Amino acid sequence: MKTETPTTFVIFGVTGELSRRRLIPALLDLFAKGLLQPQFRVVGFSRGAYSSEEFRKFVGEIAAAEGNRYSADLVEKFVGCTHYCQGAFEEKDAYMRLSDTLNSLDETEIKQCSNKLFYLAVPPAYYMNIFDNLANSGLTIPCGGREGWTRVLVEKPFGKDLETAQELEKRLSKLFQEEQIFRIDHYLAKETVQNILAFRFSNILFEPLWSNIFIERVEINLFEKFGVEGRGAFYDGIGALRDVGQNHVLQMLALVAMEDPKELDAVLIRRERAKALAALKLKEPVSADSLRRGQYAGYRNEEHVAPNSETETYFHIEAEVDNERWRGVSWVLEAGKRMAESKAEIRVYFKKTETCLCPPGVEHHHQNVLTFRVQPDEGISVTFWAKKPGFTTELEPQVLSFNYKDSLLDQRMPDAYERVLYDCIRGDQILFTSTKEVEVAWKFIMTVMKRWKDAPLMEYDGTI
Ligand code: BG6
Repeated sequence: MKTETPTTFVIFGVTGELSRRRLIPALLDLFAKGLLQPQFRVVGFSRGAYSSEEFRKFVGEIAAAEGNRYSADLVEKFVGCTHYCQGAFEEKDAYMRLSDTLNSLDETEIKQCSNKLFYLAVPPAYYMNIFDNLANSGLTIPCGGREGWTRVLVEKPFGKDLETAQELEKRLSKLFQEEQIFRIDHYLAKETVQNILAFRFSNILFEPLWSNIFIERVEINLFEKFGVEGRGAFYDGIGALRDVGQNHVLQMLALVAMEDPKELDAVLIRRERAKALAALKLKEPVSADSLRRGQYAGYRNEEHVAPNSETETYFHIEAEVDNERWRGVSWVLEAGKRMAESKAEIRVYFKKTETCLCPPGVEHHHQNVLTFRVQPDEGISVTFWAKKPGFTTELEPQVLSFNYKDSLLDQRMPDAYERVLYDCIRGDQILFTSTKEVEVAWKFIMTVMKRWKDAPLMEYDGTI
């Protein structure tokens, strides 16, 4: 579905990693799929002194890195829709220049008042400055009355603790309406993660079993093989819990734990996710096994990392969703960098049957496991037990599996950032987090941080 009014994408921090690796490629792909209005424009905003030609060359190089996925003609058209505005995020005059650039594009190229989407791909320290300057310069007021909209897309981390998140929210809600604010958690836009709700609420097979009566534990992993990869300055002092725990891991948990929202509606879905997160607490009693943190060997030698850094690059948390549906079920949340493999997965372990038709003397360890494979090898699988073929009564595990790559055939899975940008244009906030979700997620994370501050920081190398 294409929206009628063209959109101008303003990217703050356009020369940074996020924009280079994900945003510009995502816009290019949306353009190639015909999902952007032909008059769409991209206006990059950054400190670097680029001329228009230099900026277009920069965009062209990003497009070239995609190989031969797009024709030269298409890339040229895309590059021709990009513009640059130079300025510091805290410089008031720069926003006047930006406003002039946008007005002149509307008048001369787009020939109508376009929607304005402001993407903050900048370190969180600049958020307040940008919000204030956007609002004070009038840039957030739509130019065409009912015609166009203005929206702001904010990357995580949203605050660095509960207090700073609440401060940011206070400021944001003064300057913008909630419908204008899109808080990104790109994990919500990953295909398998989006599929959790469809799977749970559109199949009678599992939903009746979805509670503490039949489920023993749920494990959620987000493992990455690589380390901080040049992001030491951002990561050090933030750590795994804030970087991926407060957001990606907890959002996956919320989707598995939440009640039926009854409708595919952003208000209802976000409300249910927030309720599930609000019921989250540490599993008691907390022990050295149930709450662990680690740091990969060599982390302290990374660029821009303090030589005596105490920042965790791994966490293991055993939690409980304290409500009628889930009380007693263990939720094991684990994430880390420099792990043996890159893998994000949600595994739901069902309780064992009371009896087992197993050969005499064999221990009954037969459990069904439902796995959402978020990445790589995206899909959903169910492990069940079957009799081994032949003259035996022994059981063996078998797997029923759905793999995205089979149903996509030769198509490529859309990147989560394409979905994020696309949904923002459509004004659909289902895949974005609400104020309430951010707040309750921080509340839980603050409890964890308090409880583990005395826990030893274990060094690991691949496994822990
Ligand atoms: C980001 C974190 O939000 O998510 C990174 O800041 C992490 O540290 C990344 O590597 C993981 O996302 P993905 O999509 O690569 O799994």
